[in-house]
Amino acid sequence: MKRVLLTGAAGGIGLRMRRELRGAFPMLRVSDMADLGLAGPGEEVVIGDICNPDDRKRMVDGIDGIIHLGGLSVENPWEDILRVNIDGTYRLFEAAYEAGVKRIVFASSNHAIGFYPRGRILDGSERPRPDCRYGLSKVFGEALSQYFADNYGIGILSIRIGWCFQKPETPRTLGSWVHIGDLTRLCRLGLETPELHHEIVFGISDNARTWWDNTTARRLGYVPQYSADQWIDEVDASTTPEPGNAVALGVQGGPFASEGYRGDPARVLPARSTGEA
Ligand SMILES: NC(=O)c1ccc[n+]([C@@H]2O[C@H](COP(=O)([O-])OP(=O)(O)OC[C@H]3O[C@@H](n4cnc5c(N)ncnc54)[C@H](O)[C@@H]3O)[C@@H](O)[C@H]2O)c1
Repeated sequence: MKRVLLTGAAGGIGLRMRRELRGAFPMLRVSDMADLGLAGPGEEVVIGDICNPDDRKRMVDGIDGIIHLGGLSVENPWEDILRVNIDGTYRLFEAAYEAGVKRIVFASSNHAIGFYPRGRILDGSERPRPDCRYGLSKVFGEALSQYFADNYGIGILSIRIGWCFQKPETPRTLGSWVHIGDLTRLCRLGLETPELHHEIVFGISDNARTWWDNTTARRLGYVPQYSADQWIDEVDASTTPEPGNAVALGVQGGPFASEGYRGDPARVLPARSTGEA
């Protein structure tokens, strides 16, 4: 991998991953709709919208591999999810193929399987159970990745990212937390592992309380260096209630399930699920 594109580089994960990837490849092209500052040594900056065909071409031109983080990262109205996360992702993959890109890492999400009950052990081979429209778009992205691997020969790693923030704050995130260093390690494996068709793995650190069996990631060579376990006592002792209704508290996706979108209520179907399965 000589020339790598990082989309969503101005975002919460992208900003930190840009730093982690400094010097990892001869050229890192960082891209986002939002401001990215100046290019550092070994970097190129491309400001653009993945929904715009000319911007997409500039993003992927001359690129060997892509870490695709860009897009909507929480629940949104369907029209926006459709335009950015579904159509935008499809078009970016199409542009990547046309530009001769060999590898893609797709930032999927735990919300692709968020309606599984807590405690159910998943290993990435189970059928998806999205917990919101955002999660549904990640299921689409995983299927798109399978299709582009099967039909176009691009090697793709879909990473169901758990909780990539400073530290876990709830029982749920004690299991799903991932340190940015570990997530970057996993992304690099997606780009650099010699043989890859399409795999679905979990973007988590070495957490004792996880519901996710990350055997596939470990088979690819993933050895997480961090763990959420140092915060177990702190989270167990916390009296702050976990956010979400009764459904959210029973399922792996937490508050994204049933009540994820708090925007214009007229545009949201009322949820009826009890979360039982
Ligand atoms: N943060 C987590 O714990 C977490 C968990 C699961 C999955 N993910 C996924 O990882 C990725 C990064 O997450 P994040 O937390 O950094 O999200 P974020 O919202 O902070 O960053 C997303 C970035 O994408 C950019 N973007 C949005 N629409 C775009 C468009 N049309 N064209 C170009 N750029 C666009 C935004 O400007 C933003 O900088 C997302 O795909 C998200 O769904 C994150």
